[in-house]
Amino acid sequence: MFYGHLGQIMALIFRQLFDPQSSTYTYLLASGKTKEAILIDPVFEQVRRDSALIQELGLKLSHTLETHVHADHVTGAWLLKQRWGSKIAAGAETGTTCADLYLKQGDKVWFGEHFVETRSTPGHTAGCVSYVLDDESMAFTGDVLLIRGSGRTDFQQGDPRAMYRSIHLQLFTLPDTCLLYPGHDYRGLTVSSVGEEKRFNPRLGGALSENDFVGYMKNLRLAHPKKIDVAVPANLLCGQPPENQPMNDPDWAPLTCNFAGIWELQPSWVEENLDAVQVLDVREPDEYTGPLGHIRGARLIPLGS
Ligand code: FE2
Repeated sequence: MFYGHLGQIMALIFRQLFDPQSSTYTYLLASGKTKEAILIDPVFEQVRRDSALIQELGLKLSHTLETHVHADHVTGAWLLKQRWGSKIAAGAETGTTCADLYLKQGDKVWFGEHFVETRSTPGHTAGCVSYVLDDESMAFTGDVLLIRGSGRTDFQQGDPRAMYRSIHLQLFTLPDTCLLYPGHDYRGLTVSSVGEEKRFNPRLGGALSENDFVGYMKNLRLAHPKKIDVAVPANLLCGQPPENQPMNDPDWAPLTCNFAGIWELQPSWVEENLDAVQVLDVREPDEYTGPLGHIRGARLIPLGS
């Protein structure tokens, strides 16, 4: 039993990714055995980065999962589907019509021998869901429960009473050791746990009642989110860009972008197209003329100059 459990943990691949523009977390989970992967809350502008990581780890993206219709960034779900053939999954109450899969309470999304289970957690929006890993060791809470905070409830059918009940009935009933991974953090905090949030969340922890929470949420007076007018309509289309909007990827050669953000070309392509490109050699002059030699026609401009 113990070995089986340990084996299962070791077989899970997990990465937390961050979009600095919107302070959004994206989560990659994959089976180390079958290499099937899912992405929770991918960001449109980070599709290139996420794809490079999936490629470098040798994974196959089977699903993208949304926790809700976001107001502060556009999802990368549609772009990832074009690239990987992944299915788009969203909560059944989100009002979207572009998803391949609509998830209700208890619905599972499998990746290899693992799955995440859907929990309906309305409050930030009416269609919010959270995803809980099969062994209840991790939960992905979107914008319902944040670290020492919670998502706002003042637009998109937000409802502080529904949020309080979602958190207490669907998330605080998980084991205290269950790690909580939110949809955002604006201070750089990355992870919490059910036990920690029950004790220390200033809006929800300890003996704070539903009425305390509602009173707090109704008096937040937050600024209107900047991107809401663009993000919500785009997310209702799962992030499909308008037809006339170019994707801005360089297309002069078969380039691939790696996880470090560097564009790369195959040496064989460079060799075949040497007359059509200008190669820059950025090493030192003695390396340029040294035993390793240099590419024909390469122009020497050392990195330091
Ligand atoms: Fe949100």
